[in-house]
Amino acid sequence: MTRTQGAVLAGMLALLALPPAQAQDKAAGQAVFKAQCSICHSTEPEHNMAGPTLYDVVGRRAGHVAGFAYSDANRNSGIVWSVDTLDLYLTSPKGVVPHNAMTYGGVKDASKRADLIAYLTTLR
Ligand code: HEC
Repeated sequence: MTRTQGAVLAGMLALLALPPAQAQDKAAGQAVFKAQCSICHSTEPEHNMAGPTLYDVVGRRAGHVAGFAYSDANRNSGIVWSVDTLDLYLTSPKGVVPHNAMTYGGVKDASKRADLIAYLTTLR
């Protein structure tokens, strides 16, 4: 993907942003993280595993953790991770960032996803 396509995609993501889900439960989100993400992602700074650390992920540009070998698709996506972009990405990682290297199908349940993202916002 080119930078321009990435910027266009980021704009589309902003427009598509869904209204925030209600009653997110961070503890339930942590349980989802442990069950579905922790095999590949750490929550500690500078600790990359099969996936990049998710410490401080909210507010960070996609593909910018030092020392992690991202796919070009992710690095050049132009996405900034926010509650809204994470919601779209975690619904369908390959749908939102085609050819990205995360071998994970997504969290289809909207309320689980909201809990998970509420937990991700605490990682700082
Ligand atoms: C099988 C391993 C694996 C699992 C399971 C997995 N991921 Fe990933 N994740 C990756 C890899 C690898 C990347 C880097 C993708 C790339 O470079 O294209 C990634 C990238 C990401 C990114 C982008 C980070 C950045 O710095 O741009 C986020 C956010 C993310 N994953 C969240 C999650 C969450 C939340 C879960 C659980 C619901 C999850 N991942 C499950 C392997 C995984």
